[in-house]
Amino acid sequence: MSEASRWQLMPELSPEEFAALKADIAANGIRVPVVIDAETGAVIDGHHRLRAFEELRAEGVRVPAYLRDVRRFSSDDERLAFVVAANLFRRHLSRKERAEVVAHLRAEGWSLRRIGETVGVDHKTVRADLGEIGEDSPIAIPERIERKGGGTYPASRPRPAPSIVVESERDQRRAEAALHALGDDAPAKLLGLARAEERARMARMAELRRVEVPERIAAEFYELRLGDLREIWDDLPDASVDAVVTDPPYNEEGVPLYEDLGRLAARVLKPGRLAAVYCGHVRLDEEMELLRTAGLTYVWHGVNVLPGLHTKIRTRMVNGKHRSVLLFSAGEFEPRKWIHDTFVAEGRGGPESRPLHPWQQSVATMRHWVFMTSKPGEVVLDPFVGSGTCAVAALSEGRRFLGGDLDPACVETTRQRIEELLSDRGETSGDAS
Ligand SMILES: C[S@@+](CC[C@H](N)C(=O)[O-])C[C@H]1O[C@@H](n2cnc3c(N)ncnc32)[C@H](O)[C@@H]1O
Repeated sequence: MSEASRWQLMPELSPEEFAALKADIAANGIRVPVVIDAETGAVIDGHHRLRAFEELRAEGVRVPAYLRDVRRFSSDDERLAFVVAANLFRRHLSRKERAEVVAHLRAEGWSLRRIGETVGVDHKTVRADLGEIGEDSPIAIPERIERKGGGTYPASRPRPAPSIVVESERDQRRAEAALHALGDDAPAKLLGLARAEERARMARMAELRRVEVPERIAAEFYELRLGDLREIWDDLPDASVDAVVTDPPYNEEGVPLYEDLGRLAARVLKPGRLAAVYCGHVRLDEEMELLRTAGLTYVWHGVNVLPGLHTKIRTRMVNGKHRSVLLFSAGEFEPRKWIHDTFVAEGRGGPESRPLHPWQQSVATMRHWVFMTSKPGEVVLDPFVGSGTCAVAALSEGRRFLGGDLDPACVETTRQRIEELLSDRGETSGDAS
């Protein structure tokens, strides 16, 4: 039995019923969300709606996108209980149809009592239904269901499932990933997609913080350091770095770090080379001033344009659609190639499909600034590496990479992303020390 047909235990609609459903969907779209299993992506409830929708689209009828209710079930038993509950209140079943549902539940190991309670008949009727289709073989009944990740709960009381309602296939994948990452920690209620992703990120970071991260991970193409940028780069030789590409924190507490960054960049950059520094909107003037007073020279103001993404700054009533990237040089700027000062991200332009950090940038924007500020084989430094976006960008562009972060979870995430990148390319990173 396929994963999808396993949950299609309700009888097929008659041709008349299906035609009526299709006409309704043509006129009004799908009004009841299609329920999707977060673990497998299988449709748990809504096969008929979906079939009607797909047929209409194939016939050229313009039907609006439908809502997808992505749910995480912790067992097959929970899935089944959900399908039965969702369908019974919507459909009137004939005796024969009900008997088929009863037999299906019995084959899944449900007790007569529980089937009766769910279907709304007494256990004698259940037995009679089973007799009608000749399926009354006794089956072991689980008293408790094992939950993935440990623990059990009573078979007769399924937990409500955590769920996220979304509109597009892309968001469906994001919802599946977030629910998968949360596992049994997902609260059993309706969640917003952004909130669920944020929780998943936090859970992942908390998990990684338990990993023992060495202060330095040095390998052939890169080196990662754990700690405060004001301390960990003291031994990095003067004029040894070809470009700094970085994304410091933009919140109020983060602003003084622009001065520390400026000082570090002014010292370690080769003369005339560039630092590309991502900046927030609200305190841009202070950030520029700090980079300048720390010893860097202002060169240019670049931007990343992010279609689909908005930074709503309510206090100023501004709907922002770009991120500023300031270019400052160590000493007098020595141009080496034409710089394109605007990067327009394709699609939504936001973080990667796999959310790893609350302030994660897209690899595409960072690749642009790595490409503009350095050449293959040169050394790029990001002292605020976060989830390692700049590391992936620099290594993808054939640069060497130095990165650091205060947070051990960030250093570990970066290490993992680099390892994935190198193993996808069939390269090894050399010894870690
Ligand atoms: C805006 S985030 C970087 C996000 C990154 N660009 C990404 O795509 O994932 C800034 C990072 O700076 C780190 N940080 C904050 N203060 C720091 C300090 N004093 N020294 C080193 N890292 C610091 C934070 O832990 C955070 O991960």
